[in-house]
Amino acid sequence: MSSRRDFIAGTIIGSVALGLEAQTTRVQATQAAKTYTWIGAAPRKNIIISSANGIHGIDKGYEILSSGGDTLDAAIAVGKVQEDDPNDDSVGYGGLPNEDGVVELDSCCMHGPTRMAGSVGGVRNIKNVSLLAQAVMQHTAHVMLVGQGAEKFGYAMGFPKENLLTDRSRKVWLLWKETMSNQDWWGPGLADPRYPVPPDTPAMPTSSAEVWQQRIDWMTEKAARLGIEPEFRMAAIERVLNPPTGTIHVSAANTKGEISGMTTTSGLAWKLAGRCGDSPIIGAGCYTDPDIGSAGATGSGEENIKVAGAHTIIENMRHGMSAKEAGLDVLRRIVHAYEKFPTKLRYISMKYYILRRDGDYAGVSMWGGTPEKPAKFAVHDGAKRLENLVGLYPGNPLTFPPQPKDPYKINTP
Ligand code: GLY
Repeated sequence: MSSRRDFIAGTIIGSVALGLEAQTTRVQATQAAKTYTWIGAAPRKNIIISSANGIHGIDKGYEILSSGGDTLDAAIAVGKVQEDDPNDDSVGYGGLPNEDGVVELDSCCMHGPTRMAGSVGGVRNIKNVSLLAQAVMQHTAHVMLVGQGAEKFGYAMGFPKENLLTDRSRKVWLLWKETMSNQDWWGPGLADPRYPVPPDTPAMPTSSAEVWQQRIDWMTEKAARLGIEPEFRMAAIERVLNPPTGTIHVSAANTKGEISGMTTTSGLAWKLAGRCGDSPIIGAGCYTDPDIGSAGATGSGEENIKVAGAHTIIENMRHGMSAKEAGLDVLRRIVHAYEKFPTKLRYISMKYYILRRDGDYAGVSMWGGTPEKPAKFAVHDGAKRLENLVGLYPGNPLTFPPQPKDPYKINTP
């Protein structure tokens, strides 16, 4: 039987051994840190970049940065404006719902100064999911909570329970149900080799144009009967024919070299219940490494998850690329994946927003828009503005799903 003295002696020896071990680990960690690549310089000015919808809240975020506030608080302040806005139907309150008519939100954030992260996916009834992701980061030992667990945690943290489906979004969902719900997200997706892609037709034949016009007229009438206001009818039809992915990403850095990022969304319209896109995925929808920079995405969540877009961009910059090159490289990876089916690229919308630690920044897009209407992103570094995204290709994508399964026969009477 071991004595108390043996125990104490053993404990002392153990502690010394542990102390030595800890010291060795510290030395190794310091050596590793010395050889670790990082971008030393901080930006000369405080700066926020975001997807174009961030232009509405970017002043709020910049104000926080200017008054010495936290970079993540600044980024979230920009995203929250869209989460609160019923007219941004791609984010938060008023987001377009899933196929069952229920709004489900995704968000994640990374806080550079502490290297912490938080994320929530498939959350119902809580509109400020960016704050909820931050609460997961600050008040749990976890990084990601989903579904009912995330919701329950939200109520425990004092988030109010709200119905997120506005009358306007409900009516657009009803329009989809009445006219296009046979074009859903079941069955093989775009990436599946079995997915049929219509051949390239440079101009629509007149007969097809007439059929499309008849369809639009028919949908317009339905929209009117559902009570969708006249000035929003075409926009509603567009959302039904081309389900949007929406989303807002924001990255913020200050002159001390602190940097953070966040992304928040209601995700793909008419999605299957429980579908999470890229927005709550750390490394896809958002990634921040305080040594290198911050990046985030909007567009096709399914494509972005597969290339771990935001993380890959950060790694590209770690290996010396500029913000622009790092983003374009990831877009080229997506192109490469479609080498055998290049026409499918016409249906992929993918945008990245990139802020390097030293203040170099860029917005890049698979499709750069037209000369008359280039795709944009928002920047604030003391001057608030929209800048053109750098397009890998000119023009606009045709949003997925490409066309009705039978282009001339949707659930028309
Ligand atoms: N990028 C947003 C989504 O796919 O849900």
